[in-house]
Amino acid sequence: LKQIPLFESLNDSERRRLESLLQRRSLEKGEILFHKGDIGSTFYIIIKGLIKIGVSNKLGDEVTLALLRDGDFFGEMALLDEQPRSADATALEDSILYVLDRNDFFPFLIENENAVRSILRALSMRLRRTDDLFAELSFLTVSARLAKRLLELAKPTQTHGEEPGEFRVQMSQRELAAMLGVTRESINKELKILKDKGMVTTSRNAIIIKDLDRLKRRTR
Ligand code: CMP
Repeated sequence: LKQIPLFESLNDSERRRLESLLQRRSLEKGEILFHKGDIGSTFYIIIKGLIKIGVSNKLGDEVTLALLRDGDFFGEMALLDEQPRSADATALEDSILYVLDRNDFFPFLIENENAVRSILRALSMRLRRTDDLFAELSFLTVSARLAKRLLELAKPTQTHGEEPGEFRVQMSQRELAAMLGVTRESINKELKILKDKGMVTTSRNAIIIKDLDRLKRRTR
């Protein structure tokens, strides 16, 4: 529990008490924990793993709202506003979670001011991110958004045999489309333009950036 930012400020006896209230839940890679619209009465903290928060339409197009990792929490919204789950939660890797029931969530918050601060801080950061994303969606073209996202995700590894100065984005076109909130066809079209210009090459699950500086110029 000490490793989890939300519980950092608890003293030993508070921690022991909380431990007695928490259940553990394991998820296999690909397992869906809940769907948007489900009734929710539990709060989750990720001990280990990777959870995708996303929404989809009837055609099966998906948008990833967030990727949550070790120490992150989720599921607080349904508890706080007493509405159904606002999004789907799916494990992208084998994951282990702590589960806290609604009946224990509120007493825990009342007793732990620092935990309340952590949750409010995290909610505020999420809203900030969503505002940035909203501005991006309103002001930038798909091509600028793609360039921006590729630069954020680019890793300067040479472990896959890239040349010096090349960068790798380990992600499928489907995942990229979901992150940008656009269809796969439109990502495909944009990548083709970048390929034709010699800025990137693509393989099955990765995009190799050949010319970082030219890609940077496309972010405006
Ligand atoms: P809840 O609505 O109970 O279930 C889905 C959860 O996903 C939600 O609570 C939040 O914890 C989390 N969530 C929803 N939207 C976002 C977002 N934009 N960024 C991070 N987490 C989110």
